[in-house]
Amino acid sequence: RKELKDFPDDFLWGASTSAYQVEGAWDEDGKGLSVMDVGNHPEDVTDFKVASDHYHNYKKDVALMAEMGFKTYRFSIAWTRIIPEGTGEINQKGIEFYSNLIDELLKYDIEPLVTMYHFDLPLALQKKGGWENRETVDAFVNYAEVLFDEFGDRVQYWLTINEQNMMILHGDALGLLEGDPDNVKKGLYQSNHHMLVAQSMVFDLCHKKLESAKIGPAPNISTVYPASSKPEDVLAANNYSSIRNWLYLDAAVFGRYNATAWSFMEEKGIIPEIKDGDMEILKAGKPDFIAFNYYTSASVEGDFKDEKKESNYEGDQQVVDNEKGLYRRHQNEHLEKTEFGWEIDPIGFRTTLREIYSRYNLPLIVTENGLGAYDKLEENDKINDNYRIDYLKKHIKQAQLAITDGVELFGYCPWSAIDLVSTHQGINKRYGFIYVNRDEFDLKDMRRIKKKSFHWYKDVIESNGKHL
Ligand code: BG6
Repeated sequence: RKELKDFPDDFLWGASTSAYQVEGAWDEDGKGLSVMDVGNHPEDVTDFKVASDHYHNYKKDVALMAEMGFKTYRFSIAWTRIIPEGTGEINQKGIEFYSNLIDELLKYDIEPLVTMYHFDLPLALQKKGGWENRETVDAFVNYAEVLFDEFGDRVQYWLTINEQNMMILHGDALGLLEGDPDNVKKGLYQSNHHMLVAQSMVFDLCHKKLESAKIGPAPNISTVYPASSKPEDVLAANNYSSIRNWLYLDAAVFGRYNATAWSFMEEKGIIPEIKDGDMEILKAGKPDFIAFNYYTSASVEGDFKDEKKESNYEGDQQVVDNEKGLYRRHQNEHLEKTEFGWEIDPIGFRTTLREIYSRYNLPLIVTENGLGAYDKLEENDKINDNYRIDYLKKHIKQAQLAITDGVELFGYCPWSAIDLVSTHQGINKRYGFIYVNRDEFDLKDMRRIKKKSFHWYKDVIESNGKHL
C-alpha cells in the first residue's frame, strides 16, 4: 500500500519484563517461594535467583527506559512478594517495592501496564494442587483485590494471566504438573477452567472497584498455517487454531467455550468439572482490550496417519504440542529462523492482528514480540544487535500495515526492556534493549549497557514510528 496510516498520537510504545525473570532477590524482604524458584532447571543455564537484579536496580533501569522515551512499561507483580503463601498474610515490603516502582515510572510519565500473574504461582498453592484446586480461584481473586486496593489509584492498565494457553499446552514442560501424562492433561484442562473463571471474576472486580481502569487477558496468539492446501492440512490448522488460540479468547471475550476445542476435550475425555454458576461468571466478566504476545506463526499438518512418515519439525522439541489425529507441527520452509530455531514471520504478525481484531472487535496491545540471541559485548561497550533491530523493524512495519487495514492497535511492548533470564534457556538468550553484564554463572559487575537497539528504539519512539 502506498498510503500508510500513522501510529496514533497516544500510541503506547514500551517494552516488557516479568518479575521472576528480571527481579532476582528471590527470597528477600519476606518474599515467598514460587514454582519458578524451585522448578527443574537445565544444568547448563542459570536459575532465577539473581536474574538481572532489577529489584535492587529498578531506579537505574527505569531511568534508562525513560531515556528511550517509553510511554509504558509492562512488568509483572510477583504474587509471592505480596502474599508470600498465596493466601493469608500480606507482605508490606512487597507492596512497598511495587509502589515505589510505580511511582518511579509515573515520575517519568511512563504508564504502568501490570501483569498480575506471569507463570510464578506461589509454591504454597501448588503444593495444595495449584490451579487444579478450585481454592486457587479464590486465592487469585483475593490477590487481585489487594493489587486493586494498593495500586488502583495509579495503575490504569491491568493484565490478568500471562500466556495461559502456553501454560496449558506446555504445562508439563514448565514443570507445573507431574505424573501420568493422561491425568496431567485432564488436570491441565481443569486448571484451565479455573483460570478462566478466576480471570472473569477479576475482570468484573476491576470494573466494580476501579472506575476508569482497563483490564484484559494476555495469551500468546499466532496465526496457524496449513502445511499445504491439502484439505486435511487445512482442517488441522483450524483444529490447532481453535485449541491454541480461540479457546482462550472466546472464553475471555464471549464467555463461552469454543465448540471445536470443546469437542477435542470431549474426545480426549478431559472435559473439566464446571460448577453451577461458572458459565454465568464467564459471561459476566468482560475485558476492555486484548493483549497478546507474538513471536512467530505456527504451521501444522493433518495427514500423518502413517506414523512412519517423519515430521520435518525442527523447532523447540521441548515444548512441541502435537495432538494425534488432530494436528502435528510442521516446519515452514518459507521462513528464516533465529539462532534458537524460532521462525521469523513478520507478515504472520499482520495476519494475527487482523484475525484477532476481526473476531473480537476490541482494542489490541502487543505485550511481547522479540528475538532471543547470543549478543556479543564488543570493545568500548558496544553491542551491535542489528539482527534484533531488523526483526523489530519488520514487525513494527507490519503493525503499521495492520493499523492501515483498520486494526485498532494502541500499544507495542516488545520482549524485553532489559536482558533477563529466558524461561528455560538462561541469561545468554538475550532479548533486551539494555545489556546486563553477567554470564550464566559469573555475575561479573551486572552493569547496564545500552545496545545499538536501544538508540534505534529511542528514535522509533521519538518519531512515533516514522523512523524505522
Ligand atoms: C513468552 C513468555 O512465552 O516468551 C516469557 O511470556 C518468555 O516469559 C518469552 O521469556 C520468550 O521465551 P524464552 O523461552 O525464549 O524465554
